[in-house]
Formats: sequence, structure tokens, C-alpha cells
Amino acid sequence: MPPRTARVRAHAKINLSLKVLGRRPDGFHELRTVFHTIGLHDILEFRFTPGRGLRIGLDDPLRLPDNLVLRAAHAFAERFGVRGSLEMKLDKRIPAGGGLGGGSSDAAAVLLALPVLTGKPASLAELTEIAASLGSDVPFFLYGGAALGLGRGEELYPLPDLPTLPVLVLAPPLHVSTPEAYRALGRGALTLDENSSKLRSLQSFVWRPGNWRAAENDFEDAVFRLHPELERWQRKLERSGAHVARLSGSGAALFGVFPNQSKLQGALPRFRSEPLKVFSTHLVSRARYRAGWLRNLREHLAETALKESEWPPRTRPIKNVRNA
Ligand code: C5P
Repeated sequence: MPPRTARVRAHAKINLSLKVLGRRPDGFHELRTVFHTIGLHDILEFRFTPGRGLRIGLDDPLRLPDNLVLRAAHAFAERFGVRGSLEMKLDKRIPAGGGLGGGSSDAAAVLLALPVLTGKPASLAELTEIAASLGSDVPFFLYGGAALGLGRGEELYPLPDLPTLPVLVLAPPLHVSTPEAYRALGRGALTLDENSSKLRSLQSFVWRPGNWRAAENDFEDAVFRLHPELERWQRKLERSGAHVARLSGSGAALFGVFPNQSKLQGALPRFRSEPLKVFSTHLVSRARYRAGWLRNLREHLAETALKESEWPPRTRPIKNVRNA
């Protein structure tokens, strides 16, 4: 059997709005967030050869400890009884630990690619279950585009797409630990009251996602207190004409969504002398996200999958191999 290979993009996300309601009995915090995928991405390459036994390898130049890519591959292989040799290569471009979901997106990319490459059909519900066991942000990347995230962020509701607006991402050389950022919020146990008052501004954002003034990020106060330069850069993004400038997730990356490309270009020189990695990118709609996936996996997809834009991508069966 010839190997099945693919090269895919694992996109980053930003949180257009992020509200933390309170601590739940399981220790996680109840969220109301609006995710959006952006053009900035990692690249993952796969090579799967069906056979006996199971071998999974990852070429990861950064040698990230406890890499979610490997955990995702093992979780999928165990659940679906994959047999063969899987080699993966990760080219990291999304800054790690920035609140841009890089590790989560890599894990979700494995979960979208493996059913197709190993000939093991999996439903969105099955993939979402594995994704949620790997991390709170992983399920979002099985959807892409704009989505409302409830619960830990794993309960997802697709939202109407926004136009492909330009986005500037600023990645400072800082690392904000997610558990520490949650602790710094000092949220008490979740109460119903909190739930309803905090929801009001989010509702107005979700109903009209372009209603930028309703966008907030509850981590900003706490994280800006620890790193005041972040607030200065946020103000600079706003003064440069961004519709909205926020911290992404629990940081430390910031983003600005601009009304047009010339405004973004005008903002770029203002950050040249700052100790920042600057990425000029754009929002990626759900339609573009999914079309990209179908394109990158097309040679292994079922005949009708491309025509019908099936989601998740449906595999062409692997012949002459006992899949059990
Ligand atoms: O799910 P994930 O591994 O991304 O979460 C990392 C940590 O962030 C959790 O262990 C928890 O401390 C915190 N967290 C939280 N509430 C969430 C998501 C994450 O408290 N909704």
C-alpha cells in the first residue's frame, strides 16, 4: 500500500470577545467567548502507511514537551483502532503561549486529517469529544470561522461570518500562564446573577458581530497590571484606527481588527521599534477555512466530498487492508 500524505494548515484564532463568568464545580471557568480563525498558521505534514502494529512519530524542531500533536494522534489511533506507521512534521509559525491557540489548532488539525489519511470515518461529535479531552480550545478548530464558545469554550455555536477584515497580531516576548491568568481573575463560584448581567453585552456582540464596542476581554485588567506595556500597545493599535484592539485569550498576544488594508499598513511602522513580533494577517471565514482543508486533503477524499463540501472531510476507503 502506498503511503497517504498531506500538508495542511493549522490556523491561529483570536477571541473577539471573552467573558469569564465564574468557577465551576469541576475547577474550570464558565466562558462566553467569540472565537475567530485568522490567516496566521502552523504547517503540519503527515505520512501514513497502513500496516501491522502502530508507530507514531513527530519531527518537531522546537521539541515542545508534551506536544498536543502526539497526544491527539494517540487519542485518535486508540479510539479508532488505527494500524500502521504515522510520521508527522510540525513547522511552527504561531507564537506559542500567546493566547492564539497554536497548540490547540495543531491538535485539531491532527483530528481532521487522521480520519481521512487512515481511512477511518469519524463524525464531528466523535472528534469533538476527543478534542475536548485534549484542551478547552481544541474543539473550536474543528469548526473554524466565527463561533460562540460556551462552557469551558468547548460548547460551540457557529456564528455568521464577518468580512475578511485585515488583522494585526502583536506577539511580545512574554509568557502568560493560562492557569495563573485565571487565578489572577479571582473569580468566585459561578452564580446565576453573574451569568445574566455579564451576558447582556455579549449578546449584543453575538447578534451583531460587527458591534465592536461590545467586545471585551475580562483578562485584560489582570494581565495589563502584570505587564503594563501591553496596554500601551493596545492603545497604539486603537489610535492607528483599529475597529477593536484586544488581548487574545489570556495573552500575551494582542490583535487589532482594521476596517481596511491601508489602515493596517499605516499602523505597521508604529510598531517597528517595539520588542514585538508583528504579523499582518486577516480573518478567515468558516467557508474559507473548510475549503482550505478540503483542498489540502482532496486526493484522499470520497468522490462526493469535494462537490458537497462535506464536513468533516470524508475519507475515500483504503482498499485491500483489514482496517480492524
Ligand atoms: O483546557 P486547557 O488545558 O486549555 O486549560 C488550561 C488551564 O486553564 C486549566 O487547567 C484551567 O486552570 C484553566 N481554564 C479554566 N477555565 C477554562 C479554560 C481553562 O479555568 N474555561
